[in-house]
Amino acid sequence: MKTSLQTLTTLLFPALALSTPVHPSSSLAVRSDTWGGSVSLGPTKSTIVNAVTTIIPGPAPLTQNGVLFLWPGMSNGTGDLIQSTLESWESNDWCGAGSGEWCVRASVFGWFGQLDGDAGVVKGDDQVRIEYTLQDDQDTWVQTVTNVGTGEVLSTYSSQSGPYMTGYGTGTECNEDCTGTSSEQQYLNTEITLASSDPTFGDTIATAGGATYEGLASSEDGKVWTIESILIPAMV
Ligand SMILES: *[C@@H]1O[C@H](CO)[C@@H](O)[C@H](O)[C@H]1NC(C)=O
Repeated sequence: MKTSLQTLTTLLFPALALSTPVHPSSSLAVRSDTWGGSVSLGPTKSTIVNAVTTIIPGPAPLTQNGVLFLWPGMSNGTGDLIQSTLESWESNDWCGAGSGEWCVRASVFGWFGQLDGDAGVVKGDDQVRIEYTLQDDQDTWVQTVTNVGTGEVLSTYSSQSGPYMTGYGTGTECNEDCTGTSSEQQYLNTEITLASSDPTFGDTIATAGGATYEGLASSEDGKVWTIESILIPAMV
């Protein structure tokens, strides 16, 4: 399990989380998991139908204690979390990655647990395009993870996660006393397309943990939102 609903709500919907009382059991459940910086948007008054970003992750820690995940995530706070994740485990042999490299897989987290697509390898300076698209059936989300430099599709996943996605944000998730990120992450040309105009969506942007962004803009009367660059500082 990569995340919890409470954490997710805090991450993707900071404004909501502030007014949501924390259930005592979720405080007990928090052991040694920590979070790096983040930038998030939501909830929109409309719904998200497409979201795309390109992450340059920087090298993974050369030795990894615990597990480290980097992901752009999308949810409505109660339903599925769509999250293609870059992952650093004590050994990343399982996807064929060496020291300082990441495994990546498209995945969804929900009441059923975590379901993942096939994994690919990402080097620190790779540009990795991660796109989430709602299909015409208004239910199925397709995740596609591509190496921009080579054009190789690294991972895909489809899930019936519904048409009510309202929040999108970056996550740097450090589990089981993990070694935190040793390099910064850039998310470039993030673009979120809504089902209909929501001129106030930009006002929901929130940052945490020293993360910054540049070039937030909208077009089509607030239907399409872009963020030129997001910078997440290294944790250690
Ligand atoms: C979130 O999406 C799920 C799946 O479509 C839906 O069942 C649920 O009602 C939605 N929750 C909110 C708060 O909109």
